[in-house]
Amino acid sequence: MKAAVLLEVGKPLEIRDIDLAAPLAHEVVVDVKASGLCHSDLYTMKTDFGWPVPLVLGHEVAGVVSSVGQDVTDVAVGDHVVANLISSCGRCANCLRGVPTNCTDPGAIRRGPGEKPRYSMHGVPVSQIGDIGGFAEQILVHERNLVPIDRTVPFDRAALLGCGVITGVGAVKNAAGVRFGDSVAVIGCGGVGLNVVQGAAISGASHVIAIDLQRAKLELARRFGATDVVDPAEEADLPARVREIVGKAGVDYAFEVIGLPQTVQQAIDITDAGGSTYVVGKMKPGTSAALTAGDLLRGNKKLSGVFMGATVAGVDIPLYSKLYQQGRLNLDDLVSETISLDRINEGYAKLEKGEIARSVVVFD
Ligand SMILES: NC(=O)c1ccc[n+]([C@@H]2O[C@H](COP(=O)([O-])OP(=O)(O)OC[C@H]3O[C@@H](n4cnc5c(N)ncnc54)[C@H](O)[C@@H]3O)[C@@H](O)[C@H]2O)c1
Ligand SMILES: [Zn+2]
Ligand SMILES: [Zn+2]
Repeated sequence: MKAAVLLEVGKPLEIRDIDLAAPLAHEVVVDVKASGLCHSDLYTMKTDFGWPVPLVLGHEVAGVVSSVGQDVTDVAVGDHVVANLISSCGRCANCLRGVPTNCTDPGAIRRGPGEKPRYSMHGVPVSQIGDIGGFAEQILVHERNLVPIDRTVPFDRAALLGCGVITGVGAVKNAAGVRFGDSVAVIGCGGVGLNVVQGAAISGASHVIAIDLQRAKLELARRFGATDVVDPAEEADLPARVREIVGKAGVDYAFEVIGLPQTVQQAIDITDAGGSTYVVGKMKPGTSAALTAGDLLRGNKKLSGVFMGATVAGVDIPLYSKLYQQGRLNLDDLVSETISLDRINEGYAKLEKGEIARSVVVFD
């Protein structure tokens, strides 16, 4: 089958033929119908995070189950499914207390060293990003990485439920627990940040302030429920502008959704006393944000990271799919374009320029 393979960090992806093993006990083969381009994979293409190459990127996948291992019970052949990269063992203390994003043994669902690799190329093992490896005509994954969804949700929309949506909406719902009337600001309104924006709007936030350098993103953010938009390049004093909007010292919840030290600092600076700053963006290795006592101590501010929106996939993905069907969650405007697999590097170039929300690779 065809897949877009990273052969070397820093090089473009190459379309190659790779071999797929037969599914073992709890494994499932999915015919991929749609696979979204998330910024995390762009980082992995350009920055060495230690993932072994050759590597198949892509972790926002929707498709149809085509075959299952003998012990699979969660999905059946013909099911429409969304893949998610929250690999979890189901048995550790964190899984048992319902926090699979903190699983201490995610490797439990992978194949062991003595077993044939799931993906290979001329006998050489090929790794799968996030245990998914979704820029391929088919994926072979553990059933715990899949959630069945309603057939009426189009595949290109459904794919985004696998990362951008659960990460963004989940940060608001599961991590922050934003309530009716709270004020929210979101720095970085790409595929993930727009979902923080709409999560806050759905939660009934009094203010949803979208902050981004790209005018097109700010216009898009309004469609996702932003009440105010700010281009930080046009503001000499961003915290002052936020204070002016909310009429107090800052927002109750600020979300950083880019992964830059300076925007993490901005997010802390625009958080009100007693408020919370959430870092969703992934900072590159070797970069760090410095904190002063005044940043957090004065005003009892809280600072937290959020991995994958603290999502419980089997609960949240069906919920978001239902909200989409009800017309209350916007997936349509997240899909900026659909492209064929051979145009994947062009899609990443557009993402890097900040021009689009999401490109989605579609397969016939
Ligand atoms: N925490 C998690 O579990 C998780 C999951 C998925 C993605 N991520 C991370 O979330 C981040 C966002 O991912 P994405 O796919 O939405 O990326 P994206 O490229 O689609 O969006 C980033 C946005 O930030 C804007 N931006 C860039 N620099 C800016 C600045 N200085 N000030 C204001 N806006 C600026 C860009 O214009 C763009 O709209 C990435 O770091 C990604 O790795 C984290
Ligand atoms: Zn992602
Ligand atoms: Zn676990």
